Amino acid sequence: MRYRHKGMTLQIESTYEAISQTAARMLVAQITLKNDSVIGLPTGSTPEGMYAYLVKMAEEHIVDFRDVVTFNLDEYLNIASDDPQSYTYYMHKHLFDQVNLQAKNTHIPSGTHSNADEVCQAYDISIFQHGKIDMQILGIGNNGHIGFNEPDIKFEAGTHLVTLDAETIRANARFFKTAQEVPKEAISIGIRNIMQAKKVVLIASGEGKAEIVKQMLFGPITPKVPASILQLHNDVTILLDQAAAKEILPLLSIQ
Ligand code: GLP
Repeated sequence: MRYRHKGMTLQIESTYEAISQTAARMLVAQITLKNDSVIGLPTGSTPEGMYAYLVKMAEEHIVDFRDVVTFNLDEYLNIASDDPQSYTYYMHKHLFDQVNLQAKNTHIPSGTHSNADEVCQAYDISIFQHGKIDMQILGIGNNGHIGFNEPDIKFEAGTHLVTLDAETIRANARFFKTAQEVPKEAISIGIRNIMQAKKVVLIASGEGKAEIVKQMLFGPITPKVPASILQLHNDVTILLDQAAAKEILPLLSIQ
């Protein structure tokens, strides 16, 4: 089902599989229209299904990544890029090593460089030099973060060093042996970078995301829920499975 809400497109499908496939198809359509598209990529468990479909479509020669440029949203600070917990490792596992993206065209902020400010500045410049991000794919954190833009972020921020929220550390602890091992800091592109993307696609799955999805779409635009700023973007698609849409479905039906 498709709805329009405050200028955004909300697409609700029954399963995680279905939204993963839709997200992959939207990316493939973008790359088909413009083979050197600049794509903003997320990590986390939600986009794993989308990456699996992208790899499958590349194997079936439906899409060619040769000229595609990618910028990842974020990376933990002080985790080596070959550490299985790093987002760099994640990207190689789920996409980079499985399709014909060229290494020179993939970008992830370095979490191990001695000067994080320099990394942030260089990342912003590099995005700028490639023109605008054509399509930015996002997940959403339980506290409304996008990338690692935690509650109370300044909406005008570019790429910056972030101190992770206690809620984020708790949520991401499932990927580590203990919560103590979760890095406390990360480098993330800013809300400004996300808002400058030509198109934004946000994917959310599962009942655990239902309440924050409602706040993002129906609550006030506030730095307390960073994703709420997407209400002001002029080309946003929100892909939700039935469980993630649970709280908003009753509100949509009465519109
Ligand atoms: C992480 C990432 C976000 C991601 C979010 C949700 O902390 N920095 O980019 O959207 O958490 O992750 P998941 O999809 O695993 O719920």
